[in-house]
Amino acid sequence: MVKVAVAGGFSQVAQEVVDALLAAKKHEITVLSRREASTENPPPAEIRWQVVDYGSKESLAAALRGTHTLLSFVQILSDYNHRSQKNLIDAAIAAGVKRFAPSEYGSKGTVNMPWWHGKERVREYLKEVNRDEEVLNYTLFQPGLFLNYLAYPQKTAKHVDPLQTVFDFENRRAVVVEGHEDAVLTLTTVADLAGVVARAVDYEGEWPKTGGIRGNRVTFSQLLEIGRRVRGRDFAVDWAKMEDLEAGKLDMSWGLSAVHQAVSADEAAAYLKVVSIGILLSSVKGAWDVSDEFNQLFPDYKFTPIEDFLAKVWGGQP
Ligand SMILES: NC(=O)c1ccc[n+]([C@@H]2O[C@H](COP(=O)([O-])OP(=O)(O)OC[C@H]3O[C@@H](n4cnc5c(N)ncnc54)[C@H](OP(=O)(O)O)[C@@H]3O)[C@@H](O)[C@H]2O)c1
Repeated sequence: MVKVAVAGGFSQVAQEVVDALLAAKKHEITVLSRREASTENPPPAEIRWQVVDYGSKESLAAALRGTHTLLSFVQILSDYNHRSQKNLIDAAIAAGVKRFAPSEYGSKGTVNMPWWHGKERVREYLKEVNRDEEVLNYTLFQPGLFLNYLAYPQKTAKHVDPLQTVFDFENRRAVVVEGHEDAVLTLTTVADLAGVVARAVDYEGEWPKTGGIRGNRVTFSQLLEIGRRVRGRDFAVDWAKMEDLEAGKLDMSWGLSAVHQAVSADEAAAYLKVVSIGILLSSVKGAWDVSDEFNQLFPDYKFTPIEDFLAKVWGGQP
């Protein structure tokens, strides 16, 4: 049994992980939040809820004393200058926390994805604090894109809301970069991410710095094939040109409308365009071809195969 603290622990992704940790019934879990626990949507009775001020390293360190593993799910988009996560790292070191996971849970690279550049700054900070000697063992959990998003608009996770991608299984259409059909996407269900994080918390050895979690590794052309098989006919493809994308241009015959809850309504349209372009360009540049460190550490872990997941979601759908 270890003491686990979860910063931003009532985020959508964090709640999936907390559920997996609770199901294992092995650890003591404290959620760190800037707010009091909601009475309308109360947290599970087994967790401790601790209100923290990310502006005060001293109070964070006091809240973290006795913690073995600290998992952060702090929303990058609203962590101005990465202050909350940097203070959390400093406080974790001061409090003697053994292991830390920053708010990653996505891609290997962040090229062309400005909304995730904050992750890069936190990676740099972790390297910096460990430069002379390792003061905080950490891992970057990287499961790629959530496979659940290919079920849009269906909700296939308990807490994580559906979001759209450039692969629209509902309407059998997709955007692919011309000449780059072999670009790779790693797609892992959020349940498998949570399952692997729970195993990693149990694991007593040192965490690998890069924590690749490879649920499924597919190329864009393989995804189109899978789409054809599970949806019964070919997808209509909008072919994008690399040079247009690099110039910030994307002409799609359809558009994305579902935006993450952390993005304000007036920013949504511009954000969705940036995200579509960013996902396409970064895929071509290898950012979503994540490594497999945790597959190697837990070789008996059974990931949800992409075609089984999609066949179940889309089977019988018009
Ligand atoms: N791979 C994928 O497909 C994928 C998809 C979605 C998310 N993710 C990643 O998963 C992680 C969590 O995302 P999410 O969607 O679950 O997040 P979220 O629901 O938007 O919530 C994140 C939490 O961050 C906390 N927070 C917000 N601003 C903060 C600040 N300035 N300082 C400290 N805490 C702050 C909030 O907690 P309190 O209000 O309780 O303090 C909030 O509950 C992120 O790293 C995200 O990039 C990956």
